[in-house]
Amino acid sequence: MEEKPTTVSEKTPETRVQPRDRQYPDPKAKLQKEVAKTGHSWDGIEEYDNPMPRWWLWTFYVTIAWAVIYMILYPAWPMVSRATQGVLGYDTRSAVSADIQRFNESNQVWFDRLNATDLQEVAADPELLGFSVNAGASIFRAQCSQCHGAGAAGVQASGFPSLLDDQWLWGGTIDEIHETIRYGIRNDDYPDARWSEMPAFGQDGLLDEEEIDQVIHYVLQMSGQSYDEALAAPGEEIYLDNCAACHGDGGEGDPFVGAPPLNNQIWLYGGSYEALWHSIYYSRFGVMPGFAERLRDAEIRAVAAYVHQLGGGQ
Ligand code: HEC
Ligand code: HEC
Repeated sequence: MEEKPTTVSEKTPETRVQPRDRQYPDPKAKLQKEVAKTGHSWDGIEEYDNPMPRWWLWTFYVTIAWAVIYMILYPAWPMVSRATQGVLGYDTRSAVSADIQRFNESNQVWFDRLNATDLQEVAADPELLGFSVNAGASIFRAQCSQCHGAGAAGVQASGFPSLLDDQWLWGGTIDEIHETIRYGIRNDDYPDARWSEMPAFGQDGLLDEEEIDQVIHYVLQMSGQSYDEALAAPGEEIYLDNCAACHGDGGEGDPFVGAPPLNNQIWLYGGSYEALWHSIYYSRFGVMPGFAERLRDAEIRAVAAYVHQLGGGQ
């Protein structure tokens, strides 16, 4: 009877060739015959002297050729005052200024229209308002955001007011906002800058420490925070004598002198005891630059329209 061919499964584990015992051809053997070595050897690892692959070599030559052509056509080599020009005469700076000029020309139509329109009327013209708000937003990012914050929420620690709420130091109509931006606040550059100066009640000895403590408690009371009754009562009298002229009898503030309201929780510098003490002892004197010479009037109008529609415009 013919012998049945043994299948793998029939082999006993002992007769099966174990992987470690198999004879594989030495992969190095062929290479070693054909390829020369460089002679470098590190810890027994030797380096073959293989030629570069063709495709690699050609790519390399193409990049060299490309570099030479590029250097001839475009500005390339840095020289003393500027780079070599390149025969195409291409220049990113002139490309950008051509773009800017193109944009300015197409925007000029709108800026002219903005200049010719009464600021109060801008909101009634949706197209013009749209343009002004867009242009104003980019002017705001460039000129105003370093103080007022990118989102115009202000920085209380530095006395940069939020422009999002409907509380205004100097008035929130579009004309008042325009005026504030144009000449700024408490700067020496413009005689028309908005101006007022709160006395430094502690530093200049107008009130003693005890009186300052008392008036602070009255301000805490007015602004709806926790306060000491026994201090706030005499504080009220000090307030009416020294502060009400600017901040109002009820602490409602006065946009005529840029005095902030003290009867709510919106603060320019802060409503904690320490912040109030600092405001009253030293006073503050927040300064904003004017923009009449830094921006064209149409740009000031655009940024005023932008600020006005942020939320709190009156
Ligand atoms: C160097 C910082 C600084 C820059 C830049 C600046 N501001 Fe001001 N801004 C201030 C300060 C400080 C005040 C508040 C001054 C005060 O105490 O009355 C203020 C106040 C204002 C007010 C009045 C707010 C109110 O409640 O009446 C408006 C509006 C305003 N800024 C808009 C702008 C616009 C728009 C720009 C950019 C074109 C700008 N500011 C750039 C610092 C700055
Ligand atoms: C001549 C007007 C004037 C008088 C008087 C005055 N203030 Fe002011 N006060 C201001 C102005 C303007 C500011 C805005 C801050 C600045 O100068 O940058 C201010 C700011 C403040 C602030 C900071 C408010 C905030 O939102 O952070 C406090 C608090 C304050 N005053 C309290 C007082 C008290 C209390 C008195 C009386 C003892 C007083 N002020 C008297 C004009 C005045």
